[in-house]
Amino acid sequence: MSVSELSAYDHAAAYDAVRHVIPEIEWAMYAEDIEAIQRLKREQDAVILAHNYMTPEVFHGVADIRGDSLALAREAQHVDAGTIVLAGVHFMAETAKLLNPAKRVLLPDLRSGCSLAESITPQDIAALRAQHPGAPVVTYVNTSATVKAASDICCTSGNAVQIIRSLGVDKVIMIPDQYLARNIAALTGVEVVTHPGACEVHERFTPLDIVQIREGHPGVTVLAHPECPPDVVAEADFAGSTADMQRYVETEHPVSVALITECSMSDNLAAQHPDLEFVRPCNLCPHMKRNTLGAIRTALETGGPEIDVDSAVAEPARHAIERMLAVR
Ligand code: 13P
Ligand code: SF4
Repeated sequence: MSVSELSAYDHAAAYDAVRHVIPEIEWAMYAEDIEAIQRLKREQDAVILAHNYMTPEVFHGVADIRGDSLALAREAQHVDAGTIVLAGVHFMAETAKLLNPAKRVLLPDLRSGCSLAESITPQDIAALRAQHPGAPVVTYVNTSATVKAASDICCTSGNAVQIIRSLGVDKVIMIPDQYLARNIAALTGVEVVTHPGACEVHERFTPLDIVQIREGHPGVTVLAHPECPPDVVAEADFAGSTADMQRYVETEHPVSVALITECSMSDNLAAQHPDLEFVRPCNLCPHMKRNTLGAIRTALETGGPEIDVDSAVAEPARHAIERMLAVR
């Protein structure tokens, strides 16, 4: 989206997008920050890319481009504006910077990390390569640029099956999410060597959570993120990335649905589908939740924190991402 497309903002009219999930009195409290952010975006030639786990006032109130990790990476390639504010976590901002080296990329709070990204180093990859010579390294995008640079190709939860199949090999090293790796191995039949990383949000769900949801809500459709342990995925009706879950809801219209993932995902979909019942067994991601309206406003006012990627790792890291984006 170009900045010229960001027209003057009407806070009362914008309430329509969130009226089913945010009380009107609460929406009024967001007016000052949202109006300031809309003005700053125009003044600063900025767009906001927001992950599906943003809270509704961010997701529906100020974001220009919304989606899962894969969509945000793809969309980052087509941004016209000079500044990208990444309402998400650090690895997403790094990915946007790698794909847009000439643009300014801001992350509202530098502490927005990810337990997966923190679980692995390039040395871990070197050790795995030594133990499994010849096996390609498929790295989840939830990693640092340094780790991507030591990899052959990236994947997201939205394209992991296609990426593994595109390699045409019997064995891969897939890091750092042990659960995603096991879930994808089950779907592809490829031998997958992995690393003991896990998402601190999705690893907390258990099969019993799903059993209890079904007992309390007969007929409910259960959708799980593939970062959940395999025994949780086995209890669900469908597993997929946050964008896959959205597509499922939009095409299948389940009357009652439980999303086994981060809390805001249900809120954002419920805002758009007031006719459906959302059961909300959610866990919060503390890193995603650092992207408050206040933090986004301050980032635009101060021009920071700005994300940069070390030039020594930028080129190989970009190569691993671009190789992923080339697989359709
Ligand atoms: P998606 O790619 O499915 O949006 O997942 C990103 C993420 O961080 C999930 O925890
Ligand atoms: Fe990382 Fe999990 Fe948070 Fe996603 S939800 S950013 S994988 S900790």
